Amino acid sequence: MIIHQADFKGSFPDHRQAPSDQLPEFAFIGRSNVGKSSLINMLLERKALARTSNVPGKTQHLNYYLINEEWYVVDLPGYGYAQVSKKLRRNWRQMMNQYFLKREDLVCVFVLVDANIPPQKPDIDFINWLGEHGLPFIIVYTKSDRCKPHQLEENIAAIRAELLQYWEELPPDVITSSVEHTGRDEVLGIIEETLERLAIS
Ligand code: GTP
Ligand code: MG
Repeated sequence: MIIHQADFKGSFPDHRQAPSDQLPEFAFIGRSNVGKSSLINMLLERKALARTSNVPGKTQHLNYYLINEEWYVVDLPGYGYAQVSKKLRRNWRQMMNQYFLKREDLVCVFVLVDANIPPQKPDIDFINWLGEHGLPFIIVYTKSDRCKPHQLEENIAAIRAELLQYWEELPPDVITSSVEHTGRDEVLGIIEETLERLAIS
């Protein structure tokens, strides 16, 4: 897929204030600092469209990007950041419940999981929550450039094994690195297939 246009459309505390033109949207979520904004920039081939940072919890609102005037990328605030106040955590939960359970234009969720560390409870809990609510999702392993190939394989095998304790079948996944631009074609391919499926249905 060629990305010929990618425009930031705004940052919204509530999806009811977000664009209402009924274009399909693809959400990107994961633990704080997992690399959501970096992945979005890599996919769209824009250096700094989505704001990245070393400070976890930078993205606090729903950030909308209109792509090729056809579909949206939504950069969502991360979860599992310990230094966040109880109030902020409650707000996050409310915003996510609203978004995931009510947003009709949401067609696929990309759940980003750090490929460098053992399975993390917030990731497993969130993936299971999506499953319980029947939301279509893909797991995207991030920062795969940070460890050696055999270590990467081991880490991912451990996460998959953890997931298989809850899932009969392994959810689909893609391995990426925003630094090395790996996984770009796979993620864009999934988006393209989803858009094609929607066009014929
Ligand atoms: P929040 O919005 O704060 O939740 O963070 P985020 O998930 O959007 O993460 P962000 O893209 O800002 O990246 C966090 C840090 O990880 C930054 O320092 C990035 O440079 C780094 N990073 C992101 N992706 C990669 C990657 O693929 N490889 C490596 N080595 N570093 C990465
Ligand atoms: Mg971010």
